[in-house]
Amino acid sequence: MSINRRTFLKSSAGSLGIALLPASFKASVASDGFLEIIAGPSQQKLYSEDAPQSDLWSYNDSTPGPEIRVKRGDRVKVRLVNKLEEATSIHWHGIRIANDMDGVSGLTQKAVEPGATFEYDFIVPDAGTYWYHAHNRSWNQVSRGLYGALIVEGDTTDFDTEHDRTLILDDWRLDETGKFDTASLGSLMDWSHGGRLGNWLTVNGQSQPNYTLNANEPYRLRLINTSNARVLELDTKQLGAKILAYDGQGLPTATELSYQPLLLGSAQRVDLLVVPKPGIPMQLDEVSGGQAFSIASFEILEKSDSTSANPAPGKSELAMPALISNELPEPDLENARVFTLDMTGGAMGQTGDITYKGKKLEGMDFRDTGQVWAFNGIANLADAPFFSVQRNDTIVLNTVNNTAFLHAMHIHGHHFRILERSGSDVDEGQPWRDTFLIGPEQTTKIAFVADNPGKWLLHCHMLEHAAAGMNTWFEISA
Ligand code: C2O
Ligand code: CU
Repeated sequence: MSINRRTFLKSSAGSLGIALLPASFKASVASDGFLEIIAGPSQQKLYSEDAPQSDLWSYNDSTPGPEIRVKRGDRVKVRLVNKLEEATSIHWHGIRIANDMDGVSGLTQKAVEPGATFEYDFIVPDAGTYWYHAHNRSWNQVSRGLYGALIVEGDTTDFDTEHDRTLILDDWRLDETGKFDTASLGSLMDWSHGGRLGNWLTVNGQSQPNYTLNANEPYRLRLINTSNARVLELDTKQLGAKILAYDGQGLPTATELSYQPLLLGSAQRVDLLVVPKPGIPMQLDEVSGGQAFSIASFEILEKSDSTSANPAPGKSELAMPALISNELPEPDLENARVFTLDMTGGAMGQTGDITYKGKKLEGMDFRDTGQVWAFNGIANLADAPFFSVQRNDTIVLNTVNNTAFLHAMHIHGHHFRILERSGSDVDEGQPWRDTFLIGPEQTTKIAFVADNPGKWLLHCHMLEHAAAGMNTWFEISA
């Protein structure tokens, strides 16, 4: 039997009416103030109720792991306990963090061996929607389920937890029985093409959950794409949604998206503002399969009290919560240091020369090393950084995608502005982001202030692409 979304859809039609109550940060804090996050094997159903359990790797026994919810300026203390069979580390995606807490095995810390622990202790400078995930052999560990949400509330937030919902979207490859497919992990075919693409989508680790919302009340829906490689295509029009934030950083006003569908690449986040209308059920549709596939549905309740049944005009305006605004350093474009990132390799593209660990690859080397992509001709981390700059220099990065594939490029430790992109109006308005999409043969120009000293990673967040070469680093002197 070949599996596609439609065959799965038929057999999992029932909705369960699951309440969305994430495990809270405070629940598992140890007496020394550290939240314990245990990475270990777990079992979970990813598909229908009658499908078998999948063997996953999770934080604190469930995927996603506990939602960490804090306030801007808070200190986050997490003790990672490694009960996996391989070394691991945790990266705090999108947080402008001290370099030694960034969690990149092999660059900012040693990977934490099985049985060992590591203490993360850092301040969160910005409000917004972030996430945490394994950062050692990420193509393996993240695809098995090692991730969770990190939500930073602003100083004033009018969205109470009832109106502030996190929806973690993940793309899984399941086998014929509906179980997570471990056998195909590490396939060089995936590595050299579009990455590990799945055949089933979950929301908060559940199959097609059904949530309950109240009519006429504004909600912030925080969407996080934790897929290894899938660029989600979401029909936000059908939800009547406006965009509040990209990658944690708020837009100046709630903005109508001028194109459809909304593209959400691996690791990207979007905060949506949704005000449900009475009597009209909503669903979140993903359309990349060529037809709409409903990944979550929302039942809309009309409150029985008279004020809600007959809301005064403008009531939802009055209740509209504050927008996120963070203070990010504005790039000084006149005095920028300009670099070019030439992306090459992969199937069906110009391979060019690829150097890996100081040696030019030829013949069987590509297969033997698994290195098939390159940034400026170099696969993976070389001893020398891509560039070294002084603290507070403005960096302009011209990214040129000379491959036949779409990529989701991520910079650690900084948010950047998208200045220009060819052939696309995605990201209009020069928003701040930490991950940007770049299509085949496209160019994108970004800028940021290198204000955070240390060694930082820059990679494609399609995790197979990163593992297969689309991974480099730069250095900012103190
Ligand atoms: Cu989500 Cu290297 O990161
Ligand atoms: Cu890529």
